[in-house]
Amino acid sequence: MRSIIKEKNLNSKKILLRLDLNVPLENGKISDTTRIDKILPTLNFLIQQKTKVIIISHVGRPKGKKVKELSLKPIGEDLRKKLNVRVKLITENIYDIKNKNYLEKFDEEILILENIRFYAEEEKNDHRFAKHLASLGDLYVNDAFSCSHRAHASIHQISKYLPSFSGLQLDLEVAALNKIITKITKPITCIIGGSKISSKIDIIKNLIPKFDNIIIVGGMANNFIEYFGNNIGKSIKEKNCYQIIKEIISLSEKNECKIIYPDDVLVSKNLNGTSKNKELDQILSDEMILDIGPKTINKIIHIINNSKTILWNGPAGYFENPNFANGSIEIAKKIIENNKSNKIFSVVGGGDTVSLLNSLKFTDNFNFVSTAGGAFLEYLEGKKLPGITALN
Ligand code: 3PG
Repeated sequence: MRSIIKEKNLNSKKILLRLDLNVPLENGKISDTTRIDKILPTLNFLIQQKTKVIIISHVGRPKGKKVKELSLKPIGEDLRKKLNVRVKLITENIYDIKNKNYLEKFDEEILILENIRFYAEEEKNDHRFAKHLASLGDLYVNDAFSCSHRAHASIHQISKYLPSFSGLQLDLEVAALNKIITKITKPITCIIGGSKISSKIDIIKNLIPKFDNIIIVGGMANNFIEYFGNNIGKSIKEKNCYQIIKEIISLSEKNECKIIYPDDVLVSKNLNGTSKNKELDQILSDEMILDIGPKTINKIIHIINNSKTILWNGPAGYFENPNFANGSIEIAKKIIENNKSNKIFSVVGGGDTVSLLNSLKFTDNFNFVSTAGGAFLEYLEGKKLPGITALN
């Protein structure tokens, strides 16, 4: 992997820079800017080198369609304020930009292509699309570790058509995770939550041989609660998971890895409602599980106290409503307490988890904070990430 920081003679080069600017947006406003703030050093470096930066990123999952709410416009505005340079969002259809000369007419230091997932070809890793994207720049830089587990056109295929480099933030994340993998001490506990169930459930099987405890909270826990014969009402869940959960349970028994899922939960009839604590067999059909309950919190605290390493990805509940943030807050507080007294080594990752910890001003108290969620888990799993392989 060649880092862009080591390159000389970048002057006036057009740099296609893949970033993960997938930040939470609420009514067009960014509610957490961590992923933007972390890539400012890369952008400042490229500006100092007098390059023309063309940012490529996605926000959300528009599934190949133009979705007004998922425009990169507010992100461009945030970048302009923070970097104090001129930033232009290019809203033209990418296919109407015939070649890189077209981009010459803009004298802004930073150009941003509109949400790359507005094009279905991106997620299909389409080689013609990647080739066209590549024709708009002289060099390609991947500074999006958090999407490097996706074999998508602007992350994977594009590197076939241009000299390709890693960015500063990607270098930092890979170096930190490599250090963690080699220095990790047992007992190791991995806490997995959040709402992206489909991206994570398959990963668990591969994590089992490496960890002592896997605590499942958030959306994925609903599948486990249902698997063990409980009604989960209107709660989010992934379809067709019976077989994979069966395999997870059997593999965990063989490997002496404990799988822990909630004993009690907080429910409501809707996302904006107040919370009710329920045992698993009391959940009604019009209720949804939105957080873990006090019994589960105590169980998790006990496990954290008996661990030497904690890896955490994904909130325990729907923390956007403060009535369901308690599970995540209590987990965070316990990790921080044990971290401060040097009892554990702690690593946290994922857009939502980091955004929650930021809002609580908790992020300084972990050994390492990764912007990546799925990519972080897959790297720990030992998988070769397509975006990293492409750079090698
Ligand atoms: C993330 O938020 O983990 C990355 O931006 C990847 O997003 P995705 O899960 O929608 O591919």
